[in-house]
Amino acid sequence: MKIAVMGASGRTGSLIAQGLLQADIEVVALGRDARRLAVLQCQGAQVALGNADDATYLAHAFEGADAVYTLLPYDLGQPGYLASQERQSTAITRAIAMAGVGRVVQLSSLGADQTGATGMIRSLHTHEARLGGLEDVDLLLLRPSHFFENFGPVLPTVLASGVHADAVDPAVKLPMLSTHDIADAAIAALLEPHWHGRLIRELLGPCDLDFVEVTALIAAQASRPDLRYQQISPAELLARLREAGFATDVAALCVELVEAFNSGLIHASQGRSAATTTPTTLQDALPDLFAMYTEWPQRSDQAGTVSPS
Ligand SMILES: NC(=O)c1ccc[n+]([C@@H]2O[C@H](COP(=O)([O-])OP(=O)(O)OC[C@H]3O[C@@H](n4cnc5c(N)ncnc54)[C@H](OP(=O)(O)O)[C@@H]3O)[C@@H](O)[C@H]2O)c1
Repeated sequence: MKIAVMGASGRTGSLIAQGLLQADIEVVALGRDARRLAVLQCQGAQVALGNADDATYLAHAFEGADAVYTLLPYDLGQPGYLASQERQSTAITRAIAMAGVGRVVQLSSLGADQTGATGMIRSLHTHEARLGGLEDVDLLLLRPSHFFENFGPVLPTVLASGVHADAVDPAVKLPMLSTHDIADAAIAALLEPHWHGRLIRELLGPCDLDFVEVTALIAAQASRPDLRYQQISPAELLARLREAGFATDVAALCVELVEAFNSGLIHASQGRSAATTTPTTLQDALPDLFAMYTEWPQRSDQAGTVSPS
């Protein structure tokens, strides 16, 4: 069995490619940077380098695959988000048809059912519809919620300032989950031969959390009871994202996304069940995120060490 994995150096794709290799599946790992795919190549994956908006490259990489894992990658610093996503969506859909792939697992998102005003998720609504138009393709649309991993890059600022600042309304509880659980769901679907047609599966994490609860869990992990959540205005969020290097249109789409969460426009529609609830908790995920994004906890041989109690 052969499976092609887009974004194989990214968060979900790398876990999926590794999981498939461990199951002795022939893997084609797609991405743009050979260095970021070198480990998978050493583990036996075939590497296919190219851009996700190039249908000919994708069709070549998908050729002979029994199934493909697809996603619409983006670069937060690159302007022209929606146009770029449109080019990728068109190329991926064409490539699936050109290569005659019969089975597709697409990473979509909660909110992709909405026709607009969902910020960065707008492109996934269009993409889902485009993929749905393919004939003779079994299609699973995975619709995960907010990734726990989104909290990783903000940890250093939260720890330094004592404030977790975001525009998300503290009264709003959101489903959120680990990318490990997305990878497990994708791997199971890619390997399972008995599903057919066009399926949608929401992935909602173990429970809904508001951002005050998220901040409390970060505070517990850091042994920093002083940490607090502060809701900032959409304008303030926009300014902070621009300062952090987000392209103007991407920052505006991020703000629209937050407003869609706050208004309830983006919401789960499948309800909690064994199929939508995933096991990894934020408490489980935080130690890795701290290890990746902060120097906390400091090594015990360093001067001035604070041991988390
Ligand atoms: N963050 C969330 O809360 C959330 C929630 C729901 C859904 N999603 C969806 O998750 C998707 C991102 O998945 P992810 O987090 O697994 O990916 P990721 O970690 O952002 O990685 C993106 C991958 O795509 C590759 N890539 C980037 N630009 C590319 C291009 N132009 N052509 C070819 N490859 C490219 C990257 O490798 P190179 O840069 O080395 O090429 C990398 O392997 C998005 O579509 C998003 O809508 C996110």
